[in-house]
Amino acid sequence: MSAPDSQPPRGALDDADIDRWATQATAAIAAAQSTAELKAVRLSHDGPKSPLALANRALGGLAPELRRAAGARVGAARSRVNIALTKRQDELQAVELAQRLSAERVDVTLPAELAPLGQPHPISALMERLGDVFVAMGWEIAEGPELEAAWMNFDALNMGPHHPARATSDTLFVDPVEHNLVMRTHTSPVQIRSLLSRPLPIYIVCPGQVYRADEFDATHVPVFHQIEGLVVDRGITMGHLKGALDHLAQAMFGAVSTRIRPSYFPFTEPSAEIDLECFVCHGASVLDPDAPCRTCASEGWIEWGGCGVVNPRVLAACGVDAEVYSGFAFGMGVERTLMFRNAATDMRDMVEGDIRFSRALKGEAR
Ligand code: PHE
Repeated sequence: MSAPDSQPPRGALDDADIDRWATQATAAIAAAQSTAELKAVRLSHDGPKSPLALANRALGGLAPELRRAAGARVGAARSRVNIALTKRQDELQAVELAQRLSAERVDVTLPAELAPLGQPHPISALMERLGDVFVAMGWEIAEGPELEAAWMNFDALNMGPHHPARATSDTLFVDPVEHNLVMRTHTSPVQIRSLLSRPLPIYIVCPGQVYRADEFDATHVPVFHQIEGLVVDRGITMGHLKGALDHLAQAMFGAVSTRIRPSYFPFTEPSAEIDLECFVCHGASVLDPDAPCRTCASEGWIEWGGCGVVNPRVLAACGVDAEVYSGFAFGMGVERTLMFRNAATDMRDMVEGDIRFSRALKGEAR
């Protein structure tokens, strides 16, 4: 940047000087390469101590007849300088803005690091999915407490005071014992609660958590989940039960064979166990002694849950006329269902909370 070459004289103003200062100023303005440079140019060529500003001030000391023409010349020169300054300022600002925009550009095509999203636990997701199968058929979701009256959990389900399931080895009793409270050992007390509180007919399912003083190993956890089903209506038979369970099996596993096998539960009569075709050997291990299957112990079938026709004594305990109404009930293990659906072989993975397990089973969550 070049500085003006001389100071204005104290006496008369030379026209040539004025033109030269203006020309020097516009040359310096044009040469400025940044707004910072232009600021310095503005100070030296148009600031209070610049020759043109001083010349302007000197006008006052001139004889009136000289002042007019000199004033016009200085004014024209200063306005030329000012127009050039404004124009250059705009140009440089535009260039600098463009440079900044390109330097600070965000590349939206770069791979982003996404924060991991939370998701329901596979068991929670599956319980919802199981419930949905029945909601789609018009059934309702019922609920009951996990801390339950022993009467609901046992007595009303036709399990008298001496039934082996009441022994402390299976049931978690809650202090003080005389209050007769237990951690529910199955979701079946929700059958009783529904029979006592709902108008007939009843079509409900109850997915929920249950407790047993059990081992902690690959196929047992002391806190697990069941889905209970209860239908009470006129003319309900075992055939309706089989149809409902086959529908559930298909919704969960697609085309898979099921079988029901005689069993015993105090609250159903007749009672059955429902089995699913082994998801590993599909029954092949039964015929081939050289290829045993650990998953089904070479039985070809895996137990899924219990079921049966509601025992008339249960209906009677809840004040339902067993001559008019009949029903069926079932209770499936949710952990078992997850094992079949996802070939998960160790139940402990489901409770240990390792996020890699949930992530691998992300498909259960919607
Ligand atoms: N409550 C039984 C259990 O936990 C399962 C069951 C439910 C059986 C309903 C029959 C009817 O093993």
